Amino acid sequence: MQYKTGLTSAALLAATAYAASNSTSSASVPSSCSISSGATATAQSDLDKLSSCSTVSGDLTIGGSISSAALANVKKLQGSLTVTNSSTLQSFAADSLETITGSLELSLLYVLETASFGALEEVDSITFLTLPAISTVTSNLKTVNSLTISDTNLESIDGFNNLESVEQFDVNNNKGLATIDSQLKSVSDSLSVSFNGDSANVSFDSLEWANNITLNDVQSVSFASLEKVNASLGFVNNSIESLNLSQLASVGGTLAIVSNEDLTSVDFSNLTTVSGGFIVANNTKLAKIDGFSSLESVGGALDVIGNFSELDLGSLKSVKGGADVETSSSNYSCDALKKLQSKGSIQGDAFVCKNGATSTSIQLSSTSGSDSSSGSATASGSSSGSATASASSASASSKSKAAGAQFAPASSFMGAVAAVAVALL
Ligand SMILES: *[C@@H]1O[C@H](CO)[C@@H](O)[C@H](O)[C@H]1NC(C)=O
Ligand SMILES: *[C@@H]1O[C@H](CO)[C@@H](O)[C@H](O)[C@H]1NC(C)=O
Ligand SMILES: *[C@@H]1O[C@H](CO)[C@@H](O)[C@H](O)[C@H]1NC(C)=O
Ligand SMILES: *[C@@H]1O[C@H](CO)[C@@H](O)[C@H](O)[C@H]1NC(C)=O
Ligand SMILES: *[C@@H]1O[C@H](CO)[C@@H](O)[C@H](O)[C@H]1NC(C)=O
Ligand SMILES: *[C@@H]1O[C@H](CO)[C@@H](O)[C@H](O)[C@H]1NC(C)=O
Ligand SMILES: *[C@@H]1O[C@H](CO)[C@@H](O)[C@H](O)[C@H]1NC(C)=O
Ligand SMILES: *[C@@H]1O[C@H](CO)[C@@H](O)[C@H](O)[C@H]1NC(C)=O
Ligand SMILES: *[C@@H]1O[C@H](CO)[C@@H](O)[C@H](O)[C@H]1NC(C)=O
Ligand SMILES: *[C@@H]1O[C@H](CO)[C@@H](O)[C@H](O)[C@H]1NC(C)=O
Ligand SMILES: *[C@@H]1O[C@H](CO)[C@@H](O)[C@H](O)[C@H]1NC(C)=O
Repeated sequence: MQYKTGLTSAALLAATAYAASNSTSSASVPSSCSISSGATATAQSDLDKLSSCSTVSGDLTIGGSISSAALANVKKLQGSLTVTNSSTLQSFAADSLETITGSLELSLLYVLETASFGALEEVDSITFLTLPAISTVTSNLKTVNSLTISDTNLESIDGFNNLESVEQFDVNNNKGLATIDSQLKSVSDSLSVSFNGDSANVSFDSLEWANNITLNDVQSVSFASLEKVNASLGFVNNSIESLNLSQLASVGGTLAIVSNEDLTSVDFSNLTTVSGGFIVANNTKLAKIDGFSSLESVGGALDVIGNFSELDLGSLKSVKGGADVETSSSNYSCDALKKLQSKGSIQGDAFVCKNGATSTSIQLSSTSGSDSSSGSATASGSSSGSATASASSASASSKSKAAGAQFAPASSFMGAVAAVAVALL
């Protein structure tokens, strides 16, 4: 009954009492105990055997038909703590524990309501996974390398707000999570906040840099101090109304702002460099794209699709890839973009610019027969725009390499965007 594995208690808990003659603690309390691996504690009495140890070495696993569990007195676990696979465990506490050198995992605990780690400051990695009944986690962690909180009933993760630097921060599918107000300053691998329900308000106002950032399904977001994203930055399918990343100077990979249906304003006024693609697409209410006025260079393609009347890229000097700019508004003029194109600033082969009024488009293909299925967007338009287009076509066609691939039909472009969106998830 005590151990699922059938190991004896001696095997689970080979408590080695050191006399602790030079210890400040009571001489009767052993300072160090070790547990053998492969054993699972399934009763409180198993854990009570550790309560005379301040340091425990080994991996401790707790599970089975236990209804509440407490790990008392243990301050340091040299190993990992895994509490998993129980349909009966309602509460867990390890309030003396200060350090876990390995991982802390709480998973598949279907009725767990509270978990308390009142003294815990340092853990290598934390995983909370499938905790459908949990309402509170008490902790005040200072050092964690990797944090994953997925599929829980948590409405707040305040116990993790004081972390300042992590490798990974991944909070997904917590449908009741309303707010994240994090003090993080840096994320050296990935920051992802996704699918936590439509109304989460998240702020990372101390964050200065992150390797990559992905947000899905949040209602509002604030990155007041963010200056650099080393790799990619993606906002996909959020209910965000405005995005203000006015301190952001560079994105080392792709910037994707896609399918944010409530988005009406973007401010990236300090952004000068995007080293990957620049994708702003399917943000149906974004009429004025005036937040990129410092953007000078794009290392990939420039793709802007939507219903915008204004697109200010006044500082843009270099686009390494092609450009696909399409709006259903008739007020947008392609002139500025065509000028850039004719100067050779858009270096890729594909160039499409069209608005809702004239279907003006230019295709820098040297072939007249296009394999494009998008018949409305061809170089044969009769507007004055197409005259400019053919003029610029002449000056730039020498750069063309693969004529047939120059025009990207809207559908395949969206396929590409969808692929990017998926890759960012
Ligand atoms: C306790 O004594 C041992 C042996 O003398 C020594 O190696 C160890 O560093 C001492 N520990 C403390 C905390 O003073
Ligand atoms: C969870 O425990 C049940 C028995 O209570 C066992 O049948 C099942 O295999 C365990 N699942 C996992 C993922 O360990
Ligand atoms: C998020 O913020 C908005 C606007 O302040 C507010 O209406 C909404 O209720 C907030 N969401 C939650 C879950 O608190
Ligand atoms: C990302 O940028 C920060 C800030 O400039 C830098 O300290 C860090 O080393 C970079 N990380 C990688 C992986 O390039
Ligand atoms: C956006 O979210 C809705 C529902 O939450 C989903 O049906 C849709 O596929 C998502 N779209 C994208 C582009 O992720
Ligand atoms: C973005 O935030 C900065 C700093 O708080 C502010 O000066 C600026 O006006 C904001 N932009 C918009 C569009 O609200
Ligand atoms: C961007 O921000 C940095 C630091 O705040 C500042 O030095 C720089 O002048 C800003 N650049 C632009 C284009 O606003
Ligand atoms: C584009 O926006 C205008 C208003 O700015 C609106 O009247 C029109 O219906 C929108 N078109 C589409 C296709 O959403
Ligand atoms: C488009 O231009 C017309 C005429 O200049 C103007 O009345 C209308 O408000 C503009 N629409 C938008 C969405 O900017
Ligand atoms: C953009 O919108 C179109 C039309 O609603 C849709 O077919 C396409 O999948 C959307 N693209 C993305 C990346 O959500
Ligand atoms: C984050 O960026 C690295 C490259 O620096 C990349 O290998 C990794 O796949 C990215 N992760 C996510 C979740 O986008």
